[in-house]
Amino acid sequence: MAMTSAALLPINTTPQIEPANFLNLLIVDDERAIREACREVAISLGYSAYMADSAEQAFRALDAQNFDAVLLDLRLPGGGGLDALRRIKERRPEAVVVVVTGFGTVQSAVQAMKNGAYDYVTKPFSVEELKLLLDRVASHLKLKSENRMLREKVKSKQGYGGIVGRAPEMEKLYRIIAKAANSVHPVLILGESGTGKEMVARSIHYSGPFRDKPFIPVDCGSLVPTLIESELFGYVRGAFTGANQSKDGLLSMAEGGTIFLDEVGELPVDLQAKLLRAIQEKEIRPVGSTRRVPINIRILAATNRDLEHAVMQGSFRRDLYFRLNVLNLRIPALRERRQDIPLLIGHFLERMTRTSGQEKMLSDDALKAMLAYDWPGNVRELENCLERTYAFTSGPLIHTIDLPPEIADLPQQDSPSANGNGSAKILPIAELEKRTILHAISELHGDKLQAARLLGIGKTTLYRKLKDYAAQGYLS
Ligand SMILES: Nc1ncnc2c1ncn2[C@@H]1O[C@H](COP(=O)(O)OP(=O)(O)OP(=O)(O)O)[C@@H](O)[C@H]1O
Ligand SMILES: [Mg+2]
Repeated sequence: MAMTSAALLPINTTPQIEPANFLNLLIVDDERAIREACREVAISLGYSAYMADSAEQAFRALDAQNFDAVLLDLRLPGGGGLDALRRIKERRPEAVVVVVTGFGTVQSAVQAMKNGAYDYVTKPFSVEELKLLLDRVASHLKLKSENRMLREKVKSKQGYGGIVGRAPEMEKLYRIIAKAANSVHPVLILGESGTGKEMVARSIHYSGPFRDKPFIPVDCGSLVPTLIESELFGYVRGAFTGANQSKDGLLSMAEGGTIFLDEVGELPVDLQAKLLRAIQEKEIRPVGSTRRVPINIRILAATNRDLEHAVMQGSFRRDLYFRLNVLNLRIPALRERRQDIPLLIGHFLERMTRTSGQEKMLSDDALKAMLAYDWPGNVRELENCLERTYAFTSGPLIHTIDLPPEIADLPQQDSPSANGNGSAKILPIAELEKRTILHAISELHGDKLQAARLLGIGKTTLYRKLKDYAAQGYLS
C-alpha cells in the first residue's frame, strides 16, 4: 500500500529487516498522517523517531539534540524546502538527510542531492520502500562510523616511522628497528616484494643519530652493469670516453649518512668484491683515480631473494653476505599478519580522501574479500589495488564488484559462491549477471544508459534489475 496523505498504513510491528544500527531520526512533514506513519515504521525497525511539522520546529529540534538522519519533505508550506535542507546541513553537517518529493518533481530531488541530501523518495511511497530506505541510511551510518573508528585506530596505532601495523610480528620488528637505528652495523632487510623493505630502511636511518645526514637508496637491480662501478664509486675526469669532469659516486654522496643497497642480490660478482673492500677498508677508489678516498657511511641492504641459497650456488660472495648480515630483520608477508589489513586499508583510504577531497568507504563484503585474499604483492599490491579501485568507483561506497577480479571472485565462506560441495568457484548465473551489470556501471562512471547499450539489454530491464539489487543492499 502506498503512503499518501489520505491513507494510514498497516504497520508490521515485527521488524523484517534487522536494523544495521541504531538510528535517531527526525521526521519533518506538515502532513500529520505521513509523519506518524513514518514514525511508526521507524519504531517498528527499532529506531527512535521525532516529528516536526515545520522547518522552524525542525531547526529547534536539531539545536536541542543530535539526530543521525532527517526525513525532510521538500514541499513544506510556504516553500523553501531546499533552503531548509541547507540550514539543516549547516547545523548538522554529519546528519544524513533524505528528502521526500512529490510525484513529478524529481528535478527538486536532483537539486537536493547536489545540495548534500543523501537520497530521496517520491510520494507516494510504500512501507517497504521506507523500510529499505531507513535500513540503507542506518547501514551507511554504521559504515561511516566504522571507517571513522578505523581511522582513529590508525592514527593511534601507527608503528615506527609511519609504518602501519600492530601484529605481534610487527611489534617485534619495531623493537629491532629501534635497536638497529642506534647501532652503526650493517643491517640486511629481508622480505617479499612490497612488504616495506625500503620503508623500514628509511625508518632505521631517520630514527638514528645521523638522521640529518643523507639517506641514499640505490637499486642494484636497475643499474646498468657497465655503469655500476662509476655510479657507486664515482669517477675522475678522463676516466673513460665522455668523462669530461669528475663526479662523486653514490657512496660518497651518502657521506656521514646511510646508503641503502636495495636488491643487493642483483649485484654482479665483480662489483661484490669491490663493495666488500670498500666496506672493510672504509675507503673507495673512484674509477680512473689512483687516490683512495675515506668514507664514513652506514650500510643497509635489502633483498627479496634467498641470499643464503645464492651463496651456496656461488652467485653471491659468502664474505660479503656475512658483512651485510651483521644484523638482520625479516618483514612478514601481509598474509602472515592479516589483522593489519583493515589498518592498512584505513590508512590508505584516509590518504586518498585527503588528496582527492572525496570520502569513499568499503562495503562489509568488499572488506571481507580483501581480508580473505593472499596479497602476493603484499602492501604495495594492497595500496595499488585501493588506488585503482578508488579512482574507478563513482559512488561513495566501494563494493566487492569494484575490486580486481582476483579478489572479487574469491570464494567466500558465507557467500553464495561457496556452495560447499567442492565447486566453490562456480557462481550462480544471477550472481554473475549482477556483478557484470554493477561492474559495467562502475566502469562507465554511473552512465546507466551506456551500460545498458553495451550490455545489450533494454534500459527498463537494467533499471528493474538495479531496483532489485538496491533491495538487496547494493547502491546503484
Ligand atoms: N607497513 C606499512 N605501512 C604503510 N605503508 C606501507 C607499509 N609497508 C609498505 N608500505 C607501502 O607499500 C609500498 C611498498 O613499500 P616498499 O617500497 O618499502 O616495499 P619493498 O619491500 O621495498 O617493495 P619492493 O620489493 O617491491 O621494492 C610503499 O608505497 C610503502 O609506502
Ligand atoms: Mg623496494
